[in-house]
Amino acid sequence: MQPEPKPRPRAVSVRPVQPGDSVLLDRWRREPEVRRHQPLNESSVAQLFAELSHQQVGDLYRDRGDKYQWVVLVDAQAAGWITLVITNWTHGLAEIGYALSTPFQRQGLMPQALAIVLRDLYSRTSLRRIEARCAIQNEGSYKVLERLGFQREGRLRDYFVLDGQRVDNYLYAILRRDFLGR
Ligand SMILES: CC(C)(COP(=O)(O)OP(=O)(O)OC[C@H]1O[C@@H](n2cnc3c(N)ncnc32)[C@H](O)[C@@H]1OP(=O)(O)O)[C@@H](O)C(=O)NCCC(=O)NCCS
Repeated sequence: MQPEPKPRPRAVSVRPVQPGDSVLLDRWRREPEVRRHQPLNESSVAQLFAELSHQQVGDLYRDRGDKYQWVVLVDAQAAGWITLVITNWTHGLAEIGYALSTPFQRQGLMPQALAIVLRDLYSRTSLRRIEARCAIQNEGSYKVLERLGFQREGRLRDYFVLDGQRVDNYLYAILRRDFLGR
């Protein structure tokens, strides 16, 4: 019997968001599997469009601005997004968030997309410490972080409200030296 052919590796890339991605973001943000472990604010397409219109990725590489997003592409198809919130440029601090649309989850795609963004951030900006927080039940999320070299630094009790319940979060961080020294 012929062995099963190996599945073809899928090409993962990222591109900066454009205002027109607001329709996609709105659709993804409504998916129950995307919302399962994270409280997402209610935002209309118009609000998302306005927010995305402010993002000029060129500013990020001049160490300016406070929020940036990328669309994750899988074989050139839009599959999810990554968000970076700058908490302090003076100290080089930021927080990262991420989500894949349901059909793209559990295929090893997000670690690849995050690695591209982290490499870009740590080679082209002055950021030194990138944090991520996730609900302690979000096993997929913290496994992705640990695979990339994020370290768990603590447990944030009652950190947010999800479906009416207060939920603890884990705090993770990866330093520039952790990532570039791998
Ligand atoms: C969490 C998320 C980003 C993970 O990305 P992904 O590309 O699907 O993750 P991977 O396929 O690389 O899986 C990584 C590991 O987590 C496990 N995993 C993934 N999703 C899981 C889930 N829902 N439940 C349990 N384990 C899961 C995988 O089996 C794998 O385990 P292994 O390292 O032992 O092989 C993705 O599932 C997602 O977008 N979820 C919804 C949005 C979300 O929760 N975002 C994070 C908010 S903090």
